[in-house]
Amino acid sequence: MSDISADLPPRGDKLTASGKKRRDFLYVATGTLGAVAAAGSIWPLVDTMNPAADVRALAKIEVDLSSIPRGARITVQWAQKPIFIDHRTERQIANSIADDNNPDLIDPALDSERVQRAEWLVQIGICTHLGCIPGGQEPGDLRGDWDGWYCACHGSVYDGAGRVRKGPAPRNLDLPPYQFLSDTLLQIGTA
Ligand code: FES
Repeated sequence: MSDISADLPPRGDKLTASGKKRRDFLYVATGTLGAVAAAGSIWPLVDTMNPAADVRALAKIEVDLSSIPRGARITVQWAQKPIFIDHRTERQIANSIADDNNPDLIDPALDSERVQRAEWLVQIGICTHLGCIPGGQEPGDLRGDWDGWYCACHGSVYDGAGRVRKGPAPRNLDLPPYQFLSDTLLQIGTA
């Protein structure tokens, strides 16, 4: 497990049951994908137009989902951002869908608009208020009233689809670009 928290915004979980202010992220990316190398004489031109190699390396990551059980959440790093991956249970999915048309939603969105596959919620773990990292990824974290995420910085609460339900956050947790390469392999990033 690698400690990457130093590169990330402050984590808003200082009131969690475990009492930890920061934690390591479980980094499960199976590899990074760099740009396809151009051949021959055109390479120098292409190279000058491309970002540095370390930036390219962060452009796409692949995450092996096969060992994440239903009900578990993991965090990976992509583009220097924490990505929350939630393998949702049927109950969590049903609860979220039941709130689809709740008039109290601050940033209305259907559950189906938040996911590509109902059991996998993939979102950027940065509070849309001032950029803290909400708690809720680890057992014992406060999750708020909707079994989602709680940002202790100023009290924003997100539900099980990452929709903001309380507090000053103006919008739902952002979604990263991603696609499923197979039933158990997720690719995050597009470059
Ligand atoms: S940064 Fe999350 S509530 Fe303010």
